[in-house]
Amino acid sequence: MYILEASGLSKAYSSGQGAKQLVLREIQLQIAQGEFVAVMGPSGSGKSTLLYTISGMDGISAGRVVFKGREISSLAEEELAKLRLHGMGFIFQQMHLLKNLNIRDNIILPAYRANKNRRGSINKKAAELMKRTGIAALAERDITQVSGGQMQRAAICRALINEPDILFGDEPTGALNSKAAGEIMEIIAEIHQTGTTILLVTHDTKVAAQAERVLYMLDGSIAAEHRLGRYEKRNNDLKAREEKLTAWLMNMGF
Ligand SMILES: Nc1ncnc2c1ncn2[C@@H]1O[C@H](COP(=O)(O)OP(=O)(O)OP(=O)(O)O)[C@@H](O)[C@H]1O
Ligand SMILES: [Mg+2]
Repeated sequence: MYILEASGLSKAYSSGQGAKQLVLREIQLQIAQGEFVAVMGPSGSGKSTLLYTISGMDGISAGRVVFKGREISSLAEEELAKLRLHGMGFIFQQMHLLKNLNIRDNIILPAYRANKNRRGSINKKAAELMKRTGIAALAERDITQVSGGQMQRAAICRALINEPDILFGDEPTGALNSKAAGEIMEIIAEIHQTGTTILLVTHDTKVAAQAERVLYMLDGSIAAEHRLGRYEKRNNDLKAREEKLTAWLMNMGF
């Protein structure tokens, strides 16, 4: 069963004087329920554009995108926003947290917007998430009073507050030092363990090595993909995975 499916997904940007630049070229992509997929590839190859179009944040030029059996590429904006709020979580490199709200309020805001649960259970869920990501003590802090890694943990909590089916990340560890990045990746791996589907854009082979499948984008197409074997999945030797992935990427000229 696929949770997310793109077929013939194309995206063009107009580059002035009526000229069009094709940034995604008839992408075919199927993501299974519970899968962890990473997207790699050179700068400008269309990774972020793939993430934004496949999640319905940005419109598409051709093709279709189906999320949980619904064609989102034809939904009206309001309905799409609702679907995203309930079914999808997003973590970005720039965290998009609101500066005039403290950490807790930033985290619970999407839950109020979704209006699905009572105040008490929202607060409880937020407390659980903050505990799980190690920022329970920072709930009252302004977002200007915490580190980048702590802010990213808050962004993860916010992405998870509505218990999404799928979590999207665009270089969620890109702005962090390697220790903080490692900790964030552990949290993301845990989220995957609990059954959440994950689609992550990253430049970091350490991050991508955690995924079950790595897509390599080149000039708007998925040029190749690397899947973990059953043995690799089971033995969970991240170092060996990363070495193999690095060799695969080098082979591709990355
Ligand atoms: N809003 C936009 N308008 C016009 N062109 C755009 C827009 N957004 C992206 N592009 C172009 O689309 C192409 C793909 O961009 P995209 O951001 O998807 O690349 P990327 O693979 O994420 O790169 P990076 O690794 O640097 O983040 C680039 O050539 C970029 O200049
Ligand atoms: Mg990008």
